[in-house]
Amino acid sequence: MSQRISLTRYLVEQQRVDGHIPSQLRLLLEVVARACKSISQAVNKGALGGVLGSAGSENVQGEVQKKLDIIANEVLIEANEWGGHLAAMASEEMDGIYLVPNRYPQGEYLLLFDPLDGSSNIDVNVSIGTIFSVLKKPEDNNGGVEEKDFLQPGSNQVAAGYCIYGPQTTLVLTVGDGVAMFTLDREQGSFVLTQENLRIPEDTKEFAINMSNMRHWDAPVKRYIDECLAGTEGPRGKDFNMRWIASMVADVHRILTRGGIFMYPWDKREPHKPGKLRLMYEANPMGWLVEQAGGAATNGHQRILDIQPTQLHERVSVILGSKNEVERVTGYHSKV
Ligand code: AHG
Ligand code: MN
Ligand code: MN
Repeated sequence: MSQRISLTRYLVEQQRVDGHIPSQLRLLLEVVARACKSISQAVNKGALGGVLGSAGSENVQGEVQKKLDIIANEVLIEANEWGGHLAAMASEEMDGIYLVPNRYPQGEYLLLFDPLDGSSNIDVNVSIGTIFSVLKKPEDNNGGVEEKDFLQPGSNQVAAGYCIYGPQTTLVLTVGDGVAMFTLDREQGSFVLTQENLRIPEDTKEFAINMSNMRHWDAPVKRYIDECLAGTEGPRGKDFNMRWIASMVADVHRILTRGGIFMYPWDKREPHKPGKLRLMYEANPMGWLVEQAGGAATNGHQRILDIQPTQLHERVSVILGSKNEVERVTGYHSKV
């Protein structure tokens, strides 16, 4: 890339030249990026910033909150509440929705986020991230926002992305016109476009799944992984490689970079739960990014983005990545 294009310039051009995004959405994305920069700073300080370890509290899903889960949540709220671009926010770390306080102007967008994905990796210095999804407030709503206004299928998203805090801090974004990647230039303090039109190869030899849950899986998932493990002697006729980072952002980032399939399927440990990952904060934004890069995302039975949510913190089974592999596993589900 001969000329450096900042995130600001990219968004201005998306707004001006291509007409993809209205000015409020541009502001929203700039603010989210600014918040991510600040979270990145906190992550980098680690023990020196006193940000490691548990906060001693639990979220609505009964998960122990880490200090950084709470810090990242606060940073995102404080950055976004006053700009006039939002009507309300929802987060994995908050029980209910967060309305923009009356003292600030109300905008037309709804922002959803997993403030810190990969919490179990914070203290061991492995890549973690922030995932976000943007919806529009329903048109028939002229009054206050309620939780039900958030319950829109992922296909309604107007923007989605994540920021990964790894060896580099990288922001990955879609506004429905492909996927673009921006790397944080720490000296300049700005995100710079480093890749456009990301494409996930349709085939892969790499899978990501928590193998320790194998005995709890359902038959179609077990069949798919058994066939991968059988390698060149098995029905697939090729050897597979396995990666599992336990941060969805990092696993999806690898898949957007070089292909692969990621699965966190339903399993028999807690059969009443449709899966571990959250539809609104994780599966929808990642599902849309993957589709925008030519991949696929299903829950084994239907496209993730077509699922009509019934609850804010709803969980879902997730299979995403290289198209042909996702279609294969999804096909195995229809045969049982
Ligand atoms: P979070 O830290 O936001 O709760 O999400 C963690 C998720 C996801 O990032 C990852 O893929 C998965 O949990 C890891 O689960 P295991 O610990 O079961 O491997
Ligand atoms: Mn998460
Ligand atoms: Mn989280």
